Amino acid sequence: MATIIQMLMDDHRIITSLFDDYEASRTPEVAMRLGDALVLHACVEEAFLYPLVRTALVGGQRLAYEAEDDHEKVKDFVAEAEDTRGDALDELIFELRYDVDVHMRWEEEDLFPRLAELLDEVTLHDVARRVLAFKRRQPVA
Ligand SMILES: [Fe+2]
Repeated sequence: MATIIQMLMDDHRIITSLFDDYEASRTPEVAMRLGDALVLHACVEEAFLYPLVRTALVGGQRLAYEAEDDHEKVKDFVAEAEDTRGDALDELIFELRYDVDVHMRWEEEDLFPRLAELLDEVTLHDVARRVLAFKRRQPVA
């Protein structure tokens, strides 16, 4: 069983490969799968990760607000992409990829190591189990 941090990093790898798939195929179907993956990942982080950030880290309240703000931007992008096609969609996804890469790098290089240091393995596994149950309750796209 993975920890919450390993699970979120796996999500990041999936999101990165969906961006690659979009760049190779440029199809709205892949853009939609990417959008669904991003929104689900953002929901999981907001429901399970940021509450931990708020309680475990010094300045966690501010960090969680900033991260949620990044997510709002991503969700706006995804909503806009749903009505966009062709070159405009390419441009939108190119911009989105830049923002998402910055956000994922911040989490992996700064936030996750700090959480891993402060939280015990039992908590990290327990949250992962709850995330898994949450994901299983989501409708399959
Ligand atoms: Fe993330």
